[in-house]
Amino acid sequence: MEKSNGLRVMLFPLPLQGCINPTIQLAKILHSRGFSITVIYTRFNAPKASSHPLFTFLEIQDGLSETETKTHDVTLLLTLLNRSCETPFRDCLTKLLQSADAETGEEKEKISCLIDDSGWIFTQPIAQSLNLPRLVLNTYKVSFFRNHFVLPQLRREMYLSLQDDSEQDDPVQEFPPLRKKDLLQILDKETEVLDSYSKMILETTKASSGIIFMSCEELDQDSLIQAREDFQVPIFAIGPSHSYFPGSSSSLFKVDETCIPWLDKQEDKSVIYVSFGSVNTINEAEFMEIAWGLRNSNQPFLWVVRLSSVVHGTEWIEAIPKKFIEMLHEKGKIVNWCPQEDVLKHRAIGGFLTHNGWNSTVESICASVPMICLPFQWDQLLNARFVSDIWMVGMHLEGRIEKNVIEGAIRRLLLGTEGEAIRERMELLKVNVGRSLKPKGSAYRSLQHLIDYISSFNL
Ligand code: UDX
Repeated sequence: MEKSNGLRVMLFPLPLQGCINPTIQLAKILHSRGFSITVIYTRFNAPKASSHPLFTFLEIQDGLSETETKTHDVTLLLTLLNRSCETPFRDCLTKLLQSADAETGEEKEKISCLIDDSGWIFTQPIAQSLNLPRLVLNTYKVSFFRNHFVLPQLRREMYLSLQDDSEQDDPVQEFPPLRKKDLLQILDKETEVLDSYSKMILETTKASSGIIFMSCEELDQDSLIQAREDFQVPIFAIGPSHSYFPGSSSSLFKVDETCIPWLDKQEDKSVIYVSFGSVNTINEAEFMEIAWGLRNSNQPFLWVVRLSSVVHGTEWIEAIPKKFIEMLHEKGKIVNWCPQEDVLKHRAIGGFLTHNGWNSTVESICASVPMICLPFQWDQLLNARFVSDIWMVGMHLEGRIEKNVIEGAIRRLLLGTEGEAIRERMELLKVNVGRSLKPKGSAYRSLQHLIDYISSFNL
């Protein structure tokens, strides 16, 4: 770590795994550049403070009831959190600024800025009223973030025409490279409630002092140029955040490390890794189709099945015959949660059947693991299109959770010539993204600009 620069940065992640990981990674990056770090967090999905002894952690009340913390509806969860966290957050930040002002002597530290998730819509006015610069941390691909504000309009104008089967594969001109069927899937899961939420995100982001993306020019070049025009605030694309401190993600769940010795026993590039992230749910029929698809592919597999969240309505899992699970274990391993970054970097992994959350997508690229795309909702649909249609580093299941389709895709990816071509393109993409993180690379330079920018708030 560099010598302390006398500046403290306040971070406030959304309490979702896909947002906590990049926030903690950013905290580590800033700390290594001399900043002190305070993480304000909610009781719900609290990050593990003991894993980061060099940071200060402050809990605020989130007001969620026991039942609310169990919801699978992310929009509802974010609405509730935004409603109940505003006052506790304001009180916490005000107190911190007052006590920083009251400090005297040479050791006096200054609070430089607040960095929090674009999904917090009350923080911008609070920071503004306290004269504290706020930067928005964005955990999506740049092209998704800048284009998703058009969704309410598309819902109004296009919804009916989207139902026409013959046009399902047509591109959505306003939101490339989405196809109409992708848009239908996004809109199907999201209601009008989201429209006013999106509007607030747009307003508060435009009023902020800057936006930080975990992407880089190699993955988002055109969108970055357009985003700079759209938002008119400084934009930093510092690259895949996990690359700076590899293998140190901040899991909310108990990690099963036994998969690494299991992988050690497998052949090079033979294993298909399967995970749908921390938010998506599947039902019993889908579970069975995936299970048979994996088994029939006859390739070894490592499958993350989080009982409380991956599988919707978990009672039935108890009823799955033991014999069936034992049969699955002949060829594969099922775990509750794994050290994903280490898994993806393991020599035995040959492919990733993924929901295409942005973190999983970039982790796969950085490990040069080709993907089989099975997006469920929201930005996952767009990320999957980039993977399959633009970068051509993966195959797309086109939403078909069917055993034959899954078996076929695994075989083509791991054993066929199509898979070889995909693997070669993926290696090139990995090298390009890796280059951006090296001195003179786009992400490297952007991070340096970010450090200079945050340091300038000292004046
Ligand atoms: C959410 C949204 O669903 C996603 O669409 C958005 O892009 C980011 O926020 P999530 O669904 O959890 O994220 O997926 P993803 O972005 O891929 O993040 C999951 C994180 O959990 C990754 O960093 C991954 O390495 C980690 N993980 C996942 C593990 O450490 N172990 C596992 O077993 C599974």
